[in-house]
Amino acid sequence: LDQTQLPGATSFLRLKKPEGVERAIRSLQVRGAPAIGLAGAWALVLAMVQEPGADRQTLDTGFARWKARLAGARPTAVNLAWALDRMAEDFHALDPQTSRDEVIATLTRRAQSLQADDAAVGLRLAEAGLGLLEPGWGLLTHCNAGAIATAAWGTALAPIHLGQDRGYGFRVWADETRPLLQGSRLTAWELQKAGVDLTLICDGAAASILASGKVQAVLVGCDRVAANGDVANKVGTLGLAVLARHFSVPFYVFAPVSTIDLSTPTGAQIPVEERDASEVTTLFSRAPVAPAGVRVSNPAFDITPASLVTALVTDRGILRPPYPAGLQEVVHGPALP
Ligand code: MRU
Repeated sequence: LDQTQLPGATSFLRLKKPEGVERAIRSLQVRGAPAIGLAGAWALVLAMVQEPGADRQTLDTGFARWKARLAGARPTAVNLAWALDRMAEDFHALDPQTSRDEVIATLTRRAQSLQADDAAVGLRLAEAGLGLLEPGWGLLTHCNAGAIATAAWGTALAPIHLGQDRGYGFRVWADETRPLLQGSRLTAWELQKAGVDLTLICDGAAASILASGKVQAVLVGCDRVAANGDVANKVGTLGLAVLARHFSVPFYVFAPVSTIDLSTPTGAQIPVEERDASEVTTLFSRAPVAPAGVRVSNPAFDITPASLVTALVTDRGILRPPYPAGLQEVVHGPALP
């Protein structure tokens, strides 16, 4: 699904080369941390299909080159590196004599199972999240952490979809999410299609909506959780977390285990992707909305300290502060059925 065309057109890309998938990830045609992880996994399959030599040495070199190249496409969302690592586990476990066809079949099976697992993860997040919410609540969300950002259900929007199926009657406010408008283009599209009671607001209106008492919980997704519970998510999330604390509204972050990065000690070590200035100075590279030559800072993400997160909703349970021990447990715990 080419997310850059939404909400105007529902069009699908048919990508047959890893270069195309890399471009789609960089340009946000496919976006959302879990979805780019899955796209990266499939790109490794395509890389093996197009590798000219079939001997193991050539396949090894090609695999390593593409794994590094894809991992660099979006540096903040750790799900991408996580999914590429899962693919590498299976690739490196293969006997050196394995034929290229078998290599491709093995990697295809792993990509399929990552995709199926992600859909199951979404449903677990939906059930866990719904347990924190009450029928009729007002909910505020930022960016798009929905079904289209994952294999199915979404992360922060998963309980909203499940609540809709179960008649919870949530009233949802969606931040438009400058500069690329994932909230207005994607979340509003996705939730409107699902029949959810939705109100779109400018990012700057979130403070007064929270002050009005209409919102009982803020739900956001994330791109990486550090070992201490600090969270990277779409720029603007930190401001919402500060506001939520000020107005005593719970701030829930939805994090599949693939988003937890225990090798990053705190948020200070999370690389924050800086994107092109034109995303801020123009509306989709069309109409200019800033004078030519103005200095621009365009960090795509910000870091919310663990102290502002009321709970981390994972697919292996809900964590409350202090987070470090719980994060270790969910990552190293036994595999779920
Ligand atoms: O730059 P984007 O649109 O990929 O940013 C996405 C987000 O920040 C989402 O909140 C996050 O990836 C979680 S998606 C389930």
